[in-house]
Amino acid sequence: MSFKINDKVKWVGKTDWELRTFHGEEYSTHRGSSYNSYLIKDEKTVLIDTVWQPFSKEFLANLRNQIDLNKIDYIIANHAEPDHSGALSELMKEIPNTPIYCTKAGAKIIKGHYHQDWNFVEVKTGDTLDLGSSKLIFVEARMLHWPDSMFTYLTGENILFSNDAFGQHYASESMYNDKVDNAELMQEALKYYANILTPYSSLVVKKIEEVLSFNLPVDMICPSHGVIWRDNPIQIISKYMEWAKNYKENQITLIYDTMWNSTRRIAEAIADGIKSKDKDLTIKIFNSSKADKNDIISEVFKSKAILVGSSTINKGILSSTASILEMIKGLGFKEKKAAAFGSYGWGGESIKIISEELNKAGFELINDGIRELWNPDEEGLIRCSQFGQNIVNKI
Ligand code: FEO
Repeated sequence: MSFKINDKVKWVGKTDWELRTFHGEEYSTHRGSSYNSYLIKDEKTVLIDTVWQPFSKEFLANLRNQIDLNKIDYIIANHAEPDHSGALSELMKEIPNTPIYCTKAGAKIIKGHYHQDWNFVEVKTGDTLDLGSSKLIFVEARMLHWPDSMFTYLTGENILFSNDAFGQHYASESMYNDKVDNAELMQEALKYYANILTPYSSLVVKKIEEVLSFNLPVDMICPSHGVIWRDNPIQIISKYMEWAKNYKENQITLIYDTMWNSTRRIAEAIADGIKSKDKDLTIKIFNSSKADKNDIISEVFKSKAILVGSSTINKGILSSTASILEMIKGLGFKEKKAAAFGSYGWGGESIKIISEELNKAGFELINDGIRELWNPDEEGLIRCSQFGQNIVNKI
């Protein structure tokens, strides 16, 4: 499959309808994804990025239907991660001397993955490549989200090829933002930001300010995953600016795991208390051993406070609680509050351990947490409800 974006630019990527996890098993892709590759034909012909290795042969066959491979003058590798560089090995067997334009880190990382000394041309921010009636301008986007990440801008057509930035894991036959369900699109774009870009938020702000300072008109943003932003493309740039500035909505998220439902009952009683105190607060509740971990992270991203609960087991916490806390810590959320809760039978260590982990993850602890012995009775549930009401007073 391919489709024409305009007289110069074609999409020649691969839509992956089946994909359900990405980065190994680290990222759920409920709606599949796409690996977007773009072919630009001016006096010179350019291929921007490729696709993931399992689709190499299909990608090349498709590309051959568009162009004699020997007519490709330049390859641009905006990012070395295998979902975009994966078809390079197959492609370079056919056109081994074609220059690959990428950042210095990009050349190193591509060599690190494929162990080939291809004809790399290292570029920096502001470097250009003349294509005839238009040119490409390169912008390094270090750590958005890898050291090598780069944007490429096409003059004349005013297209920003942003690679992962502004992308979404979202397979669709309708390849434009104005042709898909906007709620689905924004949910996937936010999930992508929350789960992948959160640690680099300060760099996102700086990079967007830098790109805007170039005063280049942007008619279209073509990311490397999901749909193309052609209707008001600036909307996703504005969203990124909002998300990058310690984003939060009027929301509390409760995340728990439970052995015999005691910690679940504590969570629900706390939520009742929160609701009784503030009906406008959005409350989301997840069992971390059952809910999708990346969906939970999206809700943490949207929350001003999170409450994390676990039964105590073996002087510790349940494994799904440990796992989600590890993910939360890695993402480096800022300006969020938190507290712990849980049931116990004897040691009762869970709330102390969870509080310590939340503290290490950069959350401001609201209090020392609440624990209830065995299964909370009526009085215990009232204590939990009051705990919820007190949380509202402190956020
Ligand atoms: Fe879509 Fe960072 O690769």
